[in-house]
Amino acid sequence: MSVIPVLEADVLRRQDPELAEILLGELARQSTTLQLVAAENFTSPAVLAALGSPLANKYAEGYPGARHHGGCEIVDVAERVAVDRAKALFGAGHANVQAHSGSSAVLAAYAALLRPGDTVLALGLPYGGHLTHGSPANFSGRWFDFVGYGVDAETGLIDYVQVRSLARTRRPKAIVCGSIACPRHIDYAFFREVADEVGAYLIADAAHPIGLVAGGAAPNPVPYADVVCATTHKVLRGPRGGMLLCGSELAERVDRAVFPFTQGGAQMHTIAAKAVAFGEAATPAFTAYAHQVVANARVLAAGLAAEGFVVTTGGTDTHLITADPLPLGADGRAARGQLAAAGMVLDCCALPHGDSRGLRLGTAAVTTQGMGEGEMAGIAALMAGVLRGRVDARRARDEVRDLVGGFLPYPG
Ligand SMILES: Cc1ncc(COP(=O)(O)O)c(C=O)c1O
Repeated sequence: MSVIPVLEADVLRRQDPELAEILLGELARQSTTLQLVAAENFTSPAVLAALGSPLANKYAEGYPGARHHGGCEIVDVAERVAVDRAKALFGAGHANVQAHSGSSAVLAAYAALLRPGDTVLALGLPYGGHLTHGSPANFSGRWFDFVGYGVDAETGLIDYVQVRSLARTRRPKAIVCGSIACPRHIDYAFFREVADEVGAYLIADAAHPIGLVAGGAAPNPVPYADVVCATTHKVLRGPRGGMLLCGSELAERVDRAVFPFTQGGAQMHTIAAKAVAFGEAATPAFTAYAHQVVANARVLAAGLAAEGFVVTTGGTDTHLITADPLPLGADGRAARGQLAAAGMVLDCCALPHGDSRGLRLGTAAVTTQGMGEGEMAGIAALMAGVLRGRVDARRARDEVRDLVGGFLPYPG
């Protein structure tokens, strides 16, 4: 099966060489540099095929069996398959697979459970909360009264004592647990207990760990949260998109919050691709993959710590690592630039102690490529070599190109 069917068929190249060159350029970039952005992965050719399929042409407002458009009998089956697979994968009473993105899923969760002006307790943005957890630049901060909890400045772990005390004093209507930068498992049972104590809804934003949950390598928030929001494109390795999981008692509210409240027509090609990804995630191969993602991240974190990086929380339970590169001579922003010039692509992030920016990286993509612990140790050493000035950018780029050449994301 072709990775980019239109390109292999030469249709795009003939019709629009400018765009064909851009697509091939991005494929070349992904095939010659190291993708260490914690939120990224390589979808399978089967997922790409579904995305590039004629389902992209279909309008389908509404839900299977109750659409506003004609001709939905086949895409209805695709959506039912996606929903059934998501429910089975995560043990959920109900799944909504229409959310266009992780942010859309969070918006829909708020729409299902809250009224504008309600108080919501969530991880503060400087500590790893997402934009949708109360940023003034986002609908969340503008429409709701967000109260932020933090992380312990020393350990970098969620300050659970503060969560309980803020919940008792501020009496939020909902508590959000989930983060863009938390490398450790979240104690969902604790959050459930606090939510019950103060009569709040619990929303788990599991955008990052949901793929590990699918593979049995991280705790499942579904039994604890009223609504779980997630992305389908991170460790889960599906198309870019979102989903919501909940019990059957909230099914109608969640569905109506997605359509018609926050979205219009469902993107049926993406929903079909989600179904493909859920199918893949239910296999023993994906379980092995999820555990390897974590094993790789642990070795990468240990390697970075041994090289002098200050690794937040001292390590990781997941695919995600955050670290302060300052002892190696660069803050996060400068280090990201130097590493990018050396062919290693990753992000900056805030650090719990707040003195400087740090680095955020993850192992979902490199593990999909087939890399293991040995390669992770080499990557940690190469990152340190570049930042300490022992390896110049050109040599590092060559080393990266050689490494990635042995683990091409889309061989051939
Ligand atoms: C915790 C969390 N929530 C929500 C999102 C939003 O997802 P999207 O970028 O698909 O809108 C992200 C994305 O990184 C995330 O990490």
